[in-house]
Amino acid sequence: MAIAIVPMTERDIPEAVECVQTTFAEDPYFLWLFDNTKYNIHRNAASLAAHFLYGLNCNSPMFVAKVPPSDKRSSTVVGVCWWFSPHPASKPVSWSVWAQDWMLSFRQLMYNVQFGGRGGLNMRRYLLWKSMQKQTHDAVWKDPRGYYFCNVIAVSAEMRGKGVGRKLVEVVTRQADREGIPCYLESSKGVPNMVIYQKLGFELVTEMDCVDGKDKCKLYCMVRQPQEKTGTLIAES
Ligand SMILES: CC(C)(COP(=O)(O)OP(=O)(O)OC[C@H]1O[C@@H](n2cnc3c(N)ncnc32)[C@H](O)[C@@H]1OP(=O)(O)O)[C@@H](O)C(=O)NCCC(=O)NCCS
Repeated sequence: MAIAIVPMTERDIPEAVECVQTTFAEDPYFLWLFDNTKYNIHRNAASLAAHFLYGLNCNSPMFVAKVPPSDKRSSTVVGVCWWFSPHPASKPVSWSVWAQDWMLSFRQLMYNVQFGGRGGLNMRRYLLWKSMQKQTHDAVWKDPRGYYFCNVIAVSAEMRGKGVGRKLVEVVTRQADREGIPCYLESSKGVPNMVIYQKLGFELVTEMDCVDGKDKCKLYCMVRQPQEKTGTLIAES
């Protein structure tokens, strides 16, 4: 089947949201973060759409894997990836990113009013995760130029194991290699994702344990050093 990896546009957002929601429905991080008795899939879709719009407006590297339209499937988007571009730790965020941060907060506030809350998102856990993520980045991100950060990657279940994930990763790692910049990701699944990402050049650097009462969510933090065309490592931070 012909699969095209193309930059995400605003028109792709609804299908990209659906792809992410179905892919992560059973994900350990998602199950830890959301209270399933209060979960509102429409509120979650609105939040994901606002985040994708934020990423597009910040010129983040965002791609979708598309198949040609067919009677057999409702969506042409079978994979999504959203990366953050590297940003030197010493530099403040640009005014345009700062403005987008505020715009995202404003949209979320409006959705809180429209949907009567956050749709089951456990804010205490969200803030715990954010704080642990910051500590981890401070400890692990040693390259002063910053990292390409894979914020989201999802491939529809029926398309997994067919090279779509590799394409969605390589579209950015090729650029990272040309620039000599490392890449970083966090995965909530050790099996099979660690093996998958190792095949794509990533190595486990640390684990993040987000513990709230008796519920725990482990995130596997992996770094990929820039490589030459032959696959040789060219820089160790
Ligand atoms: C993780 C994910 C993005 C990978 O995408 P994918 O399309 O399945 O991956 P690919 O088919 O491109 O495989 C990439 C490599 O991993 C290997 N691989 C794929 N599935 C594997 C498995 N279950 N076990 C071992 N290796 C596997 C492939 O053989 C390939 O290596 P190769 O090119 O050297 O042969 C996808 O499986 C997914 O969306 N999973 C659910 C959501 C998720 O966990 N997202 C990531 C959160 S960080």
